[in-house]
Amino acid sequence: MEIALHVNVDHVATLRQARGTPYPDPVEAALLCERAGADGVTVHLREDRRHIQPRDVRVLREVVRGTFNLECAATEAMVAFACELRPDQVTLVPERREERTTEGGLDAQGQRGVLEPVVARLRGVGIRVSLFIAGDPAQVDAAAQLGAEQVELHTGDYANARGDAAVARELDALFQGAGRAHAQGLRVAAGHGLTTRNVPAVAALPHVVELNIGHAVISEAVLVGLPEAVHCLREAIARGYRSRRP
Ligand code: PXP
Repeated sequence: MEIALHVNVDHVATLRQARGTPYPDPVEAALLCERAGADGVTVHLREDRRHIQPRDVRVLREVVRGTFNLECAATEAMVAFACELRPDQVTLVPERREERTTEGGLDAQGQRGVLEPVVARLRGVGIRVSLFIAGDPAQVDAAAQLGAEQVELHTGDYANARGDAAVARELDALFQGAGRAHAQGLRVAAGHGLTTRNVPAVAALPHVVELNIGHAVISEAVLVGLPEAVHCLREAIARGYRSRRP
């Protein structure tokens, strides 16, 4: 397989946190994804802990066999946690409390003072560091200068683009960004908003070696899994019914 697929299981935890139940378990989901062919598992431990919890991350670190990619903000608390946990990869992302999901890429250029020591610290303990950025030249160059080994190109604008011209413009920006990153020795990943419909064009971009996909695959799983789930529920009800006392 030329392109690694990392499944982001955050939204399994979103469902769990909505009720405060022990299920559905993102760890169980991660194992199923790996068994089904995913090359790795991604989670985003947010400061507000809205979905993934620190305990999930600790267990995932133990059980994921492929690449374990932890997304986090470049804060002291998260960097200390990552250095202790030692995931295979850390993807540094911007984080705003009020956002629904990660809205844009990092300002690798403007945040150089904050990011440079963080990248060095994470790399110092053997973690591959990826920076989630837009594909524009200044950000790609800054990522290379900061010492990151990888960039993850933000595909959200491409995914949200409407109309052939806008889609082509966004794809071209990703194409240019991937080429520029590769030329500077960076690994190239991509992610955000990818679906079965829009992923082929991203997978076709030269140099892209990793995709991180979450919301769409968990959403699809809910739908394709419903018939089986209803079947199981009917069986459980029938079991109870059959055991009724006369
Ligand atoms: N890559 C990064 C850096 C992200 O922050 C996210 C969302 O957490 C994703 C990929 C996955 O995006 P989506 O859930 O839209 O597939």
